[in-house]
This record gives sequence, structure tokens and C-alpha cells, in this order.
Amino acid sequence: MTATQDTPVTRTPGTGHVRVEGRDKVTGAARYTGDLPFTGLAHGRLVLSAIARGRIRAVEADRVLAMPGVLAVLHHGNAPRLMTDYMSVTGPPDPVLALFQHDRVPYVGWPVALVVAETLEQAAEAAAALEVAYEAEPHDVVFSADHPGTVTPANSMMPAELVKGDVEAELAASAFVVDQEYTTPEEYHTALEPHATTARWDGDRLDVVDSNQGTHWVANDLAQLFSLDPASVRVRSEHVGGGFGSKGVRPNQVAATMAAAVLRRPVRVALTRRQTFALVGYRSPTAQRVRLGADADGRLRALDHRGHSATSTVHDFLELSAASGRSLYDADAHSTVHRLLRLDVPTPTFVRAPGEAPGSFALESAIDELAEKAGLDPIELRARNEPAVGPVSGLPFGSRNLLACFEEGARRFGWAGRDPRPGVRREGRWLLGTGTAAAIFGCHSAPSTAAVTAEADGTFTVRVNAADIGTGARTAMVVVAADTLEVAPDRIRIHIADSDLSPATFAGGSMGTRSWGWAVAAAAGELRERLALGGGIPPEGITVRSDTTEAVRALSQKERHSFGAQFAEVAVDTATGEVRVRRMLGMFAAGRIVNPLTARNQFVGGMTWGISMALHEEAVRDPASGGLVGADLAGYHVASNADVPLIEADWVHDPDPDDPIGIKGIGEVGIVGAAAAIANAVWHATGARQRHLPIRPDRVL
Ligand code: MOS
Repeated sequence: MTATQDTPVTRTPGTGHVRVEGRDKVTGAARYTGDLPFTGLAHGRLVLSAIARGRIRAVEADRVLAMPGVLAVLHHGNAPRLMTDYMSVTGPPDPVLALFQHDRVPYVGWPVALVVAETLEQAAEAAAALEVAYEAEPHDVVFSADHPGTVTPANSMMPAELVKGDVEAELAASAFVVDQEYTTPEEYHTALEPHATTARWDGDRLDVVDSNQGTHWVANDLAQLFSLDPASVRVRSEHVGGGFGSKGVRPNQVAATMAAAVLRRPVRVALTRRQTFALVGYRSPTAQRVRLGADADGRLRALDHRGHSATSTVHDFLELSAASGRSLYDADAHSTVHRLLRLDVPTPTFVRAPGEAPGSFALESAIDELAEKAGLDPIELRARNEPAVGPVSGLPFGSRNLLACFEEGARRFGWAGRDPRPGVRREGRWLLGTGTAAAIFGCHSAPSTAAVTAEADGTFTVRVNAADIGTGARTAMVVVAADTLEVAPDRIRIHIADSDLSPATFAGGSMGTRSWGWAVAAAAGELRERLALGGGIPPEGITVRSDTTEAVRALSQKERHSFGAQFAEVAVDTATGEVRVRRMLGMFAAGRIVNPLTARNQFVGGMTWGISMALHEEAVRDPASGGLVGADLAGYHVASNADVPLIEADWVHDPDPDDPIGIKGIGEVGIVGAAAAIANAVWHATGARQRHLPIRPDRVL
């Protein structure tokens, strides 16, 4: 008898499954990086620059070294040399990883020293007391679209410019034209669990316990930076309290490794909440100009989206805000162009739906403005501009169920019969309105490997180097294995987030579950076939390994995206200008949904962030100091429970025809379009367009 034959199927594919580590998390048994005890652990605290541009004249370490418990002060005068000439997963490494290699300071918040002490309190006190003398130079931190320093970015993840047809001619021939500027502010993805790393040398092996989105990513970069054999570096990241793009390779990992090498004892470097507002990236502010031209029937003749964003002077990161129009709407002429402004500010990075989140605010607001001008329902306008193939690429769509999302969403939201006139629905001192917007997010696969073992006792072990950053990825992989093996999930144990496992992609770009799921399903499927042949299981079990590299490379060229339709109802206080979201509905077409419970979490989480983006989030940079005003969760407003009403998220049937198990990706599409749906609802309530986020009371009145 084989294991699969003597156990009934107890899982119905498609049904929800609670998080396999959920009980550990709510009882405190799950320990995060900062909780784990180590014998002989020392604590490092980073010291960040107070000037926005210039050089370090001196680090006055002597007084601090005499303080209780202080073990070392590392800075550019004494730090070991690092190797920084290498390619990381997303391109050349951010120079902030080259800790203490020179005396230049390019922004407020640049790491200038690490103080290491016996206790966390001693390290914190000594770091606060460390005096650093600077030679300050004039700085410029003020972002604007017409800044003379604006440049065409040299390289980015997608083409910075794509032009099809003659936009100016099509605009001139259009019956209706929208030409507007939209702005979004600097926004932060400061995760509930701040970044933390413990590094320790075990003989010649570097053993790192960390909070990150990909252990191979971090291990490979540490190996490069410290000139180590990658096989001698182990990075583990068991539980992660949020990442959202911020937990790639960061200064905390480099600092802990460096200090552990110098002191030859385990060192932990945890960032403070305030430091997460300086060291781990953020969403660049954007200034976007959208020009749309349509004929009398509302068919787009021209789509012109120009996105400006900021970066630091040391590293180019481009916020691709204009890119999604290339796939969203048909138009005779398309122009999507990005420009970059290098300022004396930290380098921005990927923040949940990088590009799409701010870009959809501009484009989906402009589409709503065009619908108003053309006298069309905004959903009807979108239906008239639905492309048969990629509007710029000409490639076929893998599957495109955007209109199905709008149809089903409109039905459930009660869109039919909506009075399009703005400013006419009153309820006491409140004005009421509804709005909608489209969502799109690219769908990619990355090569991954996995191993699935049938154990002699009838259980199974899945090994896949996935990262569960709070998404439920660990549970999704158990579900994929259970459904493929046709066994109950409680017979499956899983190991993830350990670079000693064979390589798999990181958690990012909404492609984790799809990419790891492919590898797990491939191994589990082959194992199931082998078990079906019978013959018993030897004591060491039967292990099947998979590697999707070839299969992923063989995927045909297509336009692959997740889609969605966002709906919002708002009430606007005519006395104070306060906007209250009353309800939201998101309908998504995002591939096969592996685990409805955690998938709904992902969509609702993205939509909640959309409310936050629409109404609250705004980091304010002080032109005088070059730093942030209120760099903490008191000064940086995010939506709280009282701001978040009933949010419904659901999905239409949309298995990806090119993925072996139909998965697309759900992590990021939930935030896309959410802010635009709310802004469009505020217009419908008040008659005033909101083209600048956040929609603060002073902007509404
Ligand atoms: Mo995501 S912003 O690719 O973690």
C-alpha cells in the first residue's frame, strides 16, 4: 500500500485553509528575528547622518568607547573593506550597502557608524551620545516635475519610454481631451516588524538570522560584499512581520555581519522605527501628466502619460508610474515616458505595486474625467477601449477578465442606475458619491526549485525556499502540495526561508506563490505518480526534486496580468472637508486562488492601503534640514481601524492558461486603482476633482 492509497482525501481544492503557523503566531510561540536568544549576543545600533550633503570630518569614538558595555564603534576610518562591484537580483547594489567605506554623505539618514555594546540599552545610549563632525554642503531635496535637473533614466526594470503613433496629431483630432497633472507624495512601507538581523560566525560559516523577502538574495549579496564562498553563508528568515518591498538587502544585514566578523561573536542589529523611515527605501513622490484624447464615441485616440519621480544622487531607482497604460487601454497613439530627478534624499525602492499604485491614481482619475467630458459611464468608457491584444506590444493576452470584474463588481456594488451628476446627494451635512477604477498588475514567473519527500510514516515533507512575509505563502505551498498529492494538509510539514534549501525566487512582484507553487506542484505531481506505482517507501523516504528553470524560460511571449475593478462609496463632510470611505468592493481576476482565506487578506490589505494612500499617507520632507518631519507612526498617518469600513474583496474565475496550476498573483493588484476609485467618488460627491494625494480636508474644502 502506498501512502496516497490508505488515506482519504480530506481537503476540497479551492476551500480555505487557516495559516499553518497561525496558532504559533497568536500564542507567541512564533519567534521573530529580534526575539531569538543567542549565547554571547552583542547589540549594534546604527548612527545615521544628520546632514543632507557633505562629508564626515570626524567620528569622536573615544568618549563613547569608554561608556559602559561598549565594545566597538565601526565607521569609515576603521571598517573592513567591502566588495561592491557585483550584480544583485534587481541590478547593481544600492551603494548604501557599502557601509562605512568613505566619508561622503549623500542624504540625511546615511549610515555613518555602528556602535556595538553588550546590551541593547547600552548600544542605544552610546549611539545617541556619539558625536560626528561634518562638513556640510548645500543640498536640494525639493521634488518638482519642472526641476532643471530632471533626466532620462539610464536603466530600469521596464523601458522608461515607449511611443506608438503620433500622440499630438491624435490629440488634435480628438472630440474630447483631458490634460491634467496629478501628484502623489513620498510614502513609506514601514513594516510592523522593523528590520532585524543576527549574524554569527560558526567557524568559517556565516550564519544569519534575519527578516527578509528572500534568503538566497540576502545570502548572495552578503557573500559578494564580504568576498565569501556563497556556500559558506546561511541566511534564515522563519517569520517576517511585513516587507512590502522593503526587506531585500539592507544595511542591518551588512552591519551585523561586519560587527560579528570584527568582534567574533554574535551581533544583532535591529532598526528602530525611526530608522525604517531612512534606511529601507520608500515610494518616490510622483508628478504625472496625463493627456487623453477620445473621439465622439469615447474611443481613445491618444493616451499620453508622463511620470516624474525622484531618486538619490548615488543610485537610480525609477518609479514606473506610466507603464500600466501600455497594457490597459487601446488607443491609436500611445506615449508613456518616465523622467527622474536626482536629489539629496535616500534612494526610493519597490513599494507594494511599484509604478502601478501611484500611476493608477493618475491614469484612472483621468479616465474618470474623460468619462465626465464624453458623457459616458466610466465603466462603459473602459469597455469601449478594451484591447484585443497588447495595445503597444501587439502580444496576445494570457487571460484578460477586466470587464468581467467590472460587470460582476457593478452588480454587487449596485452601480446600475447611478446618477452621474456630481454634488447632488446630501445626507445632513454629508455629500455622498461613488467611484470606480481599474486595477492591473503584471504577472511573472521566476525559476524555482523544490523537493517533496514521501516519508516512511505516511507523512510528507515539502522543502521550498519560499518567504512568508505575512502573506500566507507557507500555507499556500502546503495547500498546493496537498491538492497535488491528494492528501490532507495536516500530513504535510514544510520548510521554507532557509538559504540552505535549493534556490527559489524571492517574495516580490506578486510572483512568489506562482513561482514556488509551480516547483512544488511539479515535484509533488511526480512523487504522486511514483507512489501510485506502489512498492513501499524506504526508511529514508522517497524524495522528488523539481527545477522550473527550463519551463519558465520556455513560456511564450504574452501580456500576462492580474486585473481588478475597484468600487468606493464616500461621504464628504461639507463643514470640515473630511472624507469618510463608507464601503469598498474589489473584484479581481487574478488567476487560480490557492487559499481563499489568505487571498482575501491580501486583497483587503491592498485596498486598505489604498484608503490610506488616498486619505492619509504623506511624508513631509523639510527643505532646510533635508530630513523628514515626523518620521514615525505618530507623524506619518496611516489608516486606522476607524478609517476602514466594510471592505469586500472577491474574484472571478480566471485560471492562468499558461501556468501549470493556473496561479497568477495577488499580492499587489489589491492596492492598484483603490486611491483613484476613492478620488473619483469624492468628485462624484462634491464636484471637485482631487488630483493631489492625500485628499486632505484642506484640499477638499
Ligand atoms: Mo513587492 S513591492 O515586489 O515586495
